[in-house]
Amino acid sequence: MRTLFVAGNWKMNPNSAEAAVALAEAVKSGVGQAVDVRVAVCPPAIYLSRIDPVLAGSPIGLGAQNMHAKPDGAYTGEISGAMLVDAGCTHVILGHSERRHGQGETDDAVNGKLHAALAAQLIPIVCIGETRLERESDLTEDVVARQLEHSLAGLSPEQMAGVVLAYEPVWAIGTGLTATPQQAQAVHAFIRRQLAAKFGEATAARVVVQYGGSVKADNAAELLACPDIDGALVGGASLKPADFLGIIEAGQSVTAKGKG
Ligand code: PGA
Repeated sequence: MRTLFVAGNWKMNPNSAEAAVALAEAVKSGVGQAVDVRVAVCPPAIYLSRIDPVLAGSPIGLGAQNMHAKPDGAYTGEISGAMLVDAGCTHVILGHSERRHGQGETDDAVNGKLHAALAAQLIPIVCIGETRLERESDLTEDVVARQLEHSLAGLSPEQMAGVVLAYEPVWAIGTGLTATPQQAQAVHAFIRRQLAAKFGEATAARVVVQYGGSVKADNAAELLACPDIDGALVGGASLKPADFLGIIEAGQSVTAKGKG
């Protein structure tokens, strides 16, 4: 079984460094030294260097929510992979749907960032997923296949094995609607078949594919118990320590029991 990986995407929250540090401290003390589930938090960029020392001595990874594809230069308002590493980051979320749909980020742009993240030794969490209209038009597999094809272009199997994917149906993000475990598992299995066709069975078996979209403490266990769901990318519930820790605990209990 792939080690489950639970990551919190804080998005543009909370409103102060003090509150961000308090949230990181609460997650750190709740997680303790539990290392049977991988955990990361992804605060806004401006808090990263404040939170890095808070997480010292803990197994919790620190992730950014975006980065630029270029290493340096005249890119006003942007942040490079090397800057994220310097701030203590181990991970970076790429191609989140709020960037794809809100900021016009294309698969090709995500691909450029992905190569830059790997070059900077960051673990990328690449998000993919269909909109409600695409699902209702029966286009989920087409959309996911296209996103995988273009977002992951040019990776070697070895590089792919170190990339985390997050399947996040756009209609389930921040809406309280969750894909059922059956719906999510079906897409995760499809993703793994696509990875096998592109990178080989052995690599596909190693890739961690998180589910994201209204994951909460009370629905995490049944999602994480699905054979091809290897963790969760958590938005809203990652802002409340008890809820986020509840999701991690669900992961620990699935890990202890084994899947299926
Ligand atoms: P949500 O967000 O858990 O609030 O639905 C998930 C995400 O956007 O990664």
